[in-house]
This record gives sequence, structure tokens and C-alpha cells, in this order.
Amino acid sequence: MVTKIIKDNVFAVGAVDWNERRFHGYSYVTKRGVTYNSYLIVDDQTTLLDTVRVGFEKEWIENITNISELSKIKNIIINHIEPDHSGGFPEIVKLCPNAVFYGTEKAKAGLFKYYGVLPKNWISVKFGQNLNIGKRTLEFIDVPMIHWPDSMFTYCAYDKILFSNDGFGQHYATNKTFDDEVCFGDLMDEVQKYYANILWPFSSIIKAKLEAIIKLKLPIEIIAPSHGLVWKKYVNEVIEKYLYWSNSSCQNKIAIVYETMWNSTEKMARKILEGIISENLEAKLFDVTKNDRTDIAAYMLDAKGWVFGSSTHDSEMLSVIAGFLYFLKDSKAKGRKAFAFGSYGWSGEAIKNIENILSKTAEFLPSLKFVYNPSEAELQECFNAGKNFAKKLKE
Ligand code: FEO
Repeated sequence: MVTKIIKDNVFAVGAVDWNERRFHGYSYVTKRGVTYNSYLIVDDQTTLLDTVRVGFEKEWIENITNISELSKIKNIIINHIEPDHSGGFPEIVKLCPNAVFYGTEKAKAGLFKYYGVLPKNWISVKFGQNLNIGKRTLEFIDVPMIHWPDSMFTYCAYDKILFSNDGFGQHYATNKTFDDEVCFGDLMDEVQKYYANILWPFSSIIKAKLEAIIKLKLPIEIIAPSHGLVWKKYVNEVIEKYLYWSNSSCQNKIAIVYETMWNSTEKMARKILEGIISENLEAKLFDVTKNDRTDIAAYMLDAKGWVFGSSTHDSEMLSVIAGFLYFLKDSKAKGRKAFAFGSYGWSGEAIKNIENILSKTAEFLPSLKFVYNPSEAELQECFNAGKNFAKKLKE
């Protein structure tokens, strides 16, 4: 067993879920696995932050007891109650019956609803309250909707560590501890994927909260999230990224996302792509049935252009793209331009339905739809539409 040291007397004691490939239900594909990070601070009052997912208690308790006897744990901080972090709660309540638990009032209510138990000692906390554990004082910063209403960060000024729970997390199973111990590109891909698939709908809240935290001028040398690697070398970079994404900032790049029945919509998609490329813009083509939806969302997070295609089937768009558009609708993205296209047999409602779902999320330019198989002239129209769309984005 390797003890992961974050700083003197601050340890990572969580668990690694090497084989998790479908997180949060079905749609978040975690191809690099997942970690459930928990931290132990050894001070006059030994303090544990967060728990792990159900099924990982044994590994977690072994990691803790490798450093400290359970009876020495005086405080247990619950930053967030979603089951990937609170699954070990009933176990730790049982193992540390005299510890004092800290969390928001919403966390307390949620834990009871999930597990039907509460510890003997619970103190509900909010921003402005803190806990002295010896040399260290831990400050509580409630951050509702990063990721749930109960969520909070815990800041330790002594070590200059922000324990950020879901914030700044990445799904990256590894035996490494810090951000500079893995490939930087892979790490940034995962943090972008995490933001797009978990936090995107809360961007306006994240922006306001981050700006408020920045105003506090807390020295932050380490960000210790509850998923993935600990940020140390790239703290400023990941904060900058969060500010960028939460501001709905985007680049002049285009995602073409489509689903096709008999390849006609696919032919249109490829011609639209050619038109875009002729304007030297970056673009990617995603058949939504063949690509990982998690990756598409990550690409779209900072793509200014969104192009959607679907064949019409029984007066509707096809079902896989429909599911994806409902996900995007909730993103509350701003500043995006879009257009819809597709082939149809006799009515062509898919196009209007695509526009309706995302009418508040993106500004739609005139759509394109062609009956059955697009002719050469119609494919030229697709090329022109792609080219014009790229030009619009550059304006
Ligand atoms: Fe990683 Fe909102 O739980």
C-alpha cells in the first residue's frame, strides 16, 4: 500500500475505481476509470474529508488506518452527499461514533434521506464558519450546485489547500497523486469532459462563485478535488479554464453532430464539413451513434458552431440524437450559432423539432432539408451552407 502525501500530515486516502466505464447512470463514459478521493489531515484533531462510493469502503478504511487509528478521528467533513462521495457515510458513522460531522444543512437532510442514519454529533455549517483542528483552521465555503444544492468546499489556509470535491475533478483512475505526474493533455481532456458532462448547466453559478472566491484572495497552492488528480503545478491553468468555460466562452470551431438512416443525412453532413473546411475553420464530424457522447459534449463545450442533422422518422428526429439534444438543452450555453439539416421521405419534421429543442440555447440559421437522396445540386447547397456558416462564425 502506498501512502499518498499531499502535504506534511495531509494524506489522500480515497479509492480507485479502475473498471468503472459508465458513471452517473449510463451516458458518461469514463474510459480512464474513476477515483473517489477522500483526505485525512493529521493535526491535534485528526480530520477526515469526504467518503467513497459504496463498495470501496474496505480500501478506504485500510488507507485511513495505515495512517491513523480510527478512534483518533475527531472530525469528519462531508463536502457533498452524492453517493459517489457519501457511500461510506453509514460505515464511518458506525466506526467513528464519537466524531463530529460537518456539512451544510442540506447535506444533513440528504444524508438522512439516502441512508436513514445520522451521526450522534452533526454541526451544520455555511460560509464564514470554520473549524480549528490545531495548527490548522478549516474554512467552509458553501458552493450550492457545484455540484448539488448541498455542496461545499473546505479551505485550509495553513496548507493553502482548497478541498473542492466535484469542482476541478476529472475521471482519471491512477496510482499517481499530482497533476504533473500524468500526461497534461490527457488530464486537460478529462477535466474538460467532466465540466461538460457534469457541471455545464451550472455555469452561471460557477462563474459567480469562482469570482467571489477569487475576491477573497485566498492563497491556493493546491486544489484537492474528490475525483482524479490533485492540482499543484497547474492550479492557475485549471482555474482559468473554469472561468473560461463558466463564462460560456468559445472558439471558432464547429461540431457537426448527426444521425442517419440510409446515409442521405450522412452525405449532407460530409458536404457541410467540406464547406466549413474550405473556410479554414476547425470542425469535427460526429455520428452520434458511433461516437462517445461524453466526448462530443466536451468538444461542444467551447465550440461556437453547432450543426445538427437527423433523418425524419415517423414525424420526429431519430432517437439517439434526440437524447443528446435534450442533454444539450440543459447546458444553458450562450453565444452559439447553429443550423439543422437532414433528409426525409414525405414530411421532414426532424429539422423543426431540432430547432425547437435548442431554440433558447443557440441561434439557428436557416435549415436545409432534402427529400430521400440528395442530388448533386443539393449536395452543392450543403457545401455552400457549410461555407456560409463558417463565414458567419468568423464575423
Ligand atoms: Fe462526484 Fe456530484 O458527485
